[in-house]
Amino acid sequence: MCGIIGFVGKEPAAPILLEGLERMEYRGYDSAGVAVRSETAGLQIRKTKGRLKVLSDLIHGGADLEGELGIGHTRWATHGEPNDINAHPHVSENGRIAIVHNGIIENYLELKEHLMRQGVRFTSDTDTEVVAQLLEFHYNECRNMLEAVGRCLRRIEGSYALGIICADYPNALIAARKDSPLIIGYGQNGNFIASDVTAIIKHTRDVVYMDDGEIAVLTADSVDVFDDEMLPVEKTHSVIDWDVSAAEKGGYAHFMAKEIMEQPEAVRKTISPRIRDGRVVLDDLHLTADYVRGLSRIFIIACGSSYHVGVVSKYSWEKLLRRPVEVMLASEFRYCDPLVDEKTLVIVISQSGETLDTMAAMREARRRGGRTLAIVNVVGSSIAREADDVLYTWAGPEIAVATTKAYTTQLVLMDLVGLYLADLLGTVEKPAYEAILSEMQLLPEKMQGFLAHTEDIQYFASRYFNHDSIFFIGRNLDYAMGLEGSLKLKEISYIHSEAYASGELKHGTISLIEPGTLVVALGTYAPLFDKAMSNVVEVKARGAEVLALTTEPFRERMEKTADATISVPETHPMLQPSLSVVPLQLFAYYVALQRGCDIDKPRNLAKSVTVE
Ligand code: F6R
Repeated sequence: MCGIIGFVGKEPAAPILLEGLERMEYRGYDSAGVAVRSETAGLQIRKTKGRLKVLSDLIHGGADLEGELGIGHTRWATHGEPNDINAHPHVSENGRIAIVHNGIIENYLELKEHLMRQGVRFTSDTDTEVVAQLLEFHYNECRNMLEAVGRCLRRIEGSYALGIICADYPNALIAARKDSPLIIGYGQNGNFIASDVTAIIKHTRDVVYMDDGEIAVLTADSVDVFDDEMLPVEKTHSVIDWDVSAAEKGGYAHFMAKEIMEQPEAVRKTISPRIRDGRVVLDDLHLTADYVRGLSRIFIIACGSSYHVGVVSKYSWEKLLRRPVEVMLASEFRYCDPLVDEKTLVIVISQSGETLDTMAAMREARRRGGRTLAIVNVVGSSIAREADDVLYTWAGPEIAVATTKAYTTQLVLMDLVGLYLADLLGTVEKPAYEAILSEMQLLPEKMQGFLAHTEDIQYFASRYFNHDSIFFIGRNLDYAMGLEGSLKLKEISYIHSEAYASGELKHGTISLIEPGTLVVALGTYAPLFDKAMSNVVEVKARGAEVLALTTEPFRERMEKTADATISVPETHPMLQPSLSVVPLQLFAYYVALQRGCDIDKPRNLAKSVTVE
């Protein structure tokens, strides 16, 4: 949700900024802009509504801008419509200070009114411009940029990752962070700031994660970090160990297609190191058997697809652990006065590790005495660093806005954690434990086999892409997985779609089924296959067109009733969603492709939602 980048060094800044922004465009694509400074040309600002490509064409790939110091921004609009004026960077009234910002300044109206009373004139509708103007205001008071930044930050409330340049400091880039991600990269030819490592991985793997309240001053060959009292801070460096190609399309038309295909490997990487000698080994987890036995309840908190993983896990964990497991949307958990105490384990699931609602819910849980365990994909992200325990899904960078490989790796990791806890509690029989684990190890291979032949899904997508409204129905784990199938479809193809627990249809929604309505009937959860069949018959009787998903052993039976059937390899029922969701992802992908949608960057969305 908005990406910022900054560079100060010994080579032209503009091309570096554009390239970094391109890699972060999934964070927002309403507008883009850069500010570059040089001794001769001064501060040059170029910004425009629309995709980065528009900006890049406008400045001829950066060739038009002179200077080795600059900042850039790709925007997901919050305050103020997406237009040229509201695009970042924002500049103070006399043009001396330029800033880029990711986050939200909550008290911006109050500050804006205050500044306007002092005669400051604003040009945009954004909260960010207030920071630029306030910086200028304090700079005029003290004539020291660092001091001005400190004074300004003490007055603003909300979240921010800021990149700042000032005409009076021709060689320095200033950065500040609170509740929005920001990293510093140490390069050979200069230093960087960025919202995300993908933006700078081509130039450096040596990074430092900024913490809340910190301010950094970067020059071409130095980086100094200060805390909120301006005392120097020694930071620990991290080395990014994944390959640059992981953040590139590698011959695929879309990141989403590539990421779907990467799932077998991502699942393998997530489970293999954690299964040793037939047992689940979670070296990074510090939960004692006594603590787990004393638990009175478990919460799973997340947003969007990560929440859908939680819904699947609620079903499987309650079965495994015989303990109450409650799954809640992070945005609801925060404000519902949740029943959390020292006997509550709170699992937070987040691909990005930066989702603001999830982070705030986690803090609320900790404040109430709960212990938090984060399931996160992005190493070093805020949630990962704040949780009591963290387990990483080793999915690698996920660039497409619609998640795929992060979802499946979250599922398998949650299955592993569930088994681990059940083992500690003694609530799982040895044969069941062993059967699940050995099936889990076969998942990558089964997924790979399925992904080798996707022609039928492409065909069904071409048959159904014109529908206006699609219903996903299923029971138990199929219902939980249907939530994800439905979200995938709607977010990238813009077709209205809903997921229902099949048994619930006749309590209202079935009135929407009319001749020709497309129903995606999920019948992959073996224990309830017969019930799933009854629901297929029910909707068929109302004229629905049924596209069914089942497992190979049930294919023939399903084919007798459904209009079209896709089958996936069978696995242990608890693990089935990790395999069965793959055709749903592909269906969404191919439908969106048929409809000519912008698959990797669906409208109005952004990856990593760092606003409430
Ligand atoms: C949908 C999708 C979102 C995210 C949600 C949470 O395809 O990706 O629904 O799952 O925004 O994001 P994380 O997992 O980063 O907290």
